[in-house]
Amino acid sequence: MSAIKNAEKVIPLNRLRPLAGGTPPVPWAGVPRPRTRVLAVTSGKGGVGKTNIVANLGYAMSRSGQRVLLLDADFGLGNLDILLGMAPKFNLSHVIAGEKRMEEIIVDGPGNVRILPASSGIQELTHLTRDQKIDVLTQLDRVLGDVDVFLIDSAAGISANVLDFSVTAHEIFVVVTPEPTSITDAYALMKVLSLKYTGRHCKLMVNMVASELEGREIHRQLNLVAEKFLGITVEYFGSIPYDERLTTCVKRQKVMAEFFPETETSRCLRQLARKMAALTITQYPQDGATFFWDHILQNGMSSSMRS
Ligand SMILES: Nc1ncnc2c1ncn2[C@@H]1O[C@H](COP(=O)(O)OP(=O)(O)OP(=O)(O)O)[C@@H](O)[C@H]1O
Ligand SMILES: [Mg+2]
Repeated sequence: MSAIKNAEKVIPLNRLRPLAGGTPPVPWAGVPRPRTRVLAVTSGKGGVGKTNIVANLGYAMSRSGQRVLLLDADFGLGNLDILLGMAPKFNLSHVIAGEKRMEEIIVDGPGNVRILPASSGIQELTHLTRDQKIDVLTQLDRVLGDVDVFLIDSAAGISANVLDFSVTAHEIFVVVTPEPTSITDAYALMKVLSLKYTGRHCKLMVNMVASELEGREIHRQLNLVAEKFLGITVEYFGSIPYDERLTTCVKRQKVMAEFFPETETSRCLRQLARKMAALTITQYPQDGATFFWDHILQNGMSSSMRS
């Protein structure tokens, strides 16, 4: 756990800026909307398996009858579409430019899972005028009308432009692997969430474990320091085994549960997908989509996002 203790020294409090706020309320805030659960998968360190997890859990939830829309929100190097064997022609930047409507950029993937390709365009969202934002988010709201789970594949890291986006979700899933650097970075992320974003809690997914026991132990240790130093409880969501077949799947552009449905890893992913689909939103009891875009419109993004 020395890795986590070191993280304590790395992020001084004065580097945490408050969220910008104060734009006027949107005219239709509070209008009842269908319940869409907005879930973000993120991590402190990159390369821990977020995109694979989003693709696999999205696929499994969709196969079990949930209406799932995946948002590729990794503005660095979004590759969710590639993992799912798709090549979308258009993305969010076309919507922002007014060339396409939101419905037109969404692509259908395996198992009826749908993708909203936004890795290009997501950062532009924050540079728009209020009217442009309302237009884009109204389109998003319409799309979310028939979505049960809106699952966001976020970029890694603790910068404001990553976290401002993740915190628009009802639930934040932090992915960690047994590597010490991944654990340190996960703790750093939790620290920023708890201090800058008024105590946002998160659920932990431990990826690439040798055993469930290893995942639970990593959670136990992380939770211990999070409770002690941050005053937050980190909930254990689940562990995913290290499985080399996942690399084969990436090469074949297929999700694990589709290509190797009867393996232990696929069973584990299906179980986590069931758990995710059954989540009751407690953290922010607002109706799904409303919360998502009200947050962006009313609170805005932090200053670094707008500059
Ligand atoms: N459970 C696993 N077992 C074995 N390999 C895995 C597992 N999960 C992910 N990987 C491998 O780890 C690599 C990184 O996965 P992925 O791209 O999903 O991570 P990421 O967190 O989305 O990365 P980035 O931060 O760059 O977006 C891939 O090569 C993937 O095949
Ligand atoms: Mg990724």
